[in-house]
Amino acid sequence: MRDLDTLPKTELHLHIEGTLEPELAFALAERNGIALPFASVDQLRAAYDFDDLQSFLDLYYATMAVLRTERDFTELTLAYLERASAQGLAHVEVFFDPQAHTSRGVPFEQVVDGIVAGLAIGQERFNVTSALILCFLRDQPIASALETLELAASTRLASIDGIGLDSAEVGYPPSLFAEVYEQAAELGLRLVAHAGEEAPPAYIVEALDVLGVERVDHGVQAAQDPALLTRLAAERIPLTVCPISNLRLRVVDDLAAHPLPRLIEAGVLVTINSDDPAYFGGYVGDNYAAIREALSLTDAQLAQLARNGVEASWASEPRKRELLEAIDLWESA
Ligand code: ADE
Ligand code: ZN
Repeated sequence: MRDLDTLPKTELHLHIEGTLEPELAFALAERNGIALPFASVDQLRAAYDFDDLQSFLDLYYATMAVLRTERDFTELTLAYLERASAQGLAHVEVFFDPQAHTSRGVPFEQVVDGIVAGLAIGQERFNVTSALILCFLRDQPIASALETLELAASTRLASIDGIGLDSAEVGYPPSLFAEVYEQAAELGLRLVAHAGEEAPPAYIVEALDVLGVERVDHGVQAAQDPALLTRLAAERIPLTVCPISNLRLRVVDDLAAHPLPRLIEAGVLVTINSDDPAYFGGYVGDNYAAIREALSLTDAQLAQLARNGVEASWASEPRKRELLEAIDLWESA
């Protein structure tokens, strides 16, 4: 068994706010004069016991209140890159939730500039390349998403590579956001969306057919729908699967019962990602290690998952070639 930390990895499903470790949350709370509703780091960590997506989101939005300044976002991004690069991260496409910050009075530009500065320092320091994806909160009004898109277009378009859709899924189908996605496409932004995490396969079909996404975030519920699996494989539509997240949010009862093998068997372009690593107790390398263990994956299968991540990524062609060569070297070493 090869050392997984040295396998070059991408991650295409990573919420930067979900990398906020309790220690940093308390340090930022103190610096910014904000009271967290927990007495200690241990008490906050003890609250990371979730029943479903909503129970996680409640804590996720409450804790991110400590993020106030551009510097906070830079430090958050750097802390993530340091941990993930120690597990072999080579390229990351970072989600951020601007509405969760602008609604608290944090200026949009400070959020973007803080993350972008962290990513730039991270590229120098850890040789991790990156892209940035602005996510809309699907449980907020469409008007708020449209306003946020306008703000992005008029202030920081050059820093943003694509848009995504996240937050509470069931009851908020992708088609609600058709106009937002149409406008984003006209701006030249790339399109992804969370679909089929908790909601049925029909949400995945809507994300593809109504929003026109090129990648589906999670998408694990596709395993229930053989016709959809055939389509995903034929059209080479990547799924950004997050195994430990699925376990911790009780999308699956047990990692050994995760639909990943069925997705792979169907020929779907599956990638492995961490989602919200601070909350779910696992960075990208931990996710590879967990599926290796629970599903008895071979080194060849793990290398193929890493290759899928490169293929599904928005890295430059030279960077993709470099990473694919490094993965081949890992496998043949
Ligand atoms: N926001 C952060 N993590 C999320 C997830 N797994 N699903 C939906 N929204 C999210
Ligand atoms: Zn997510």
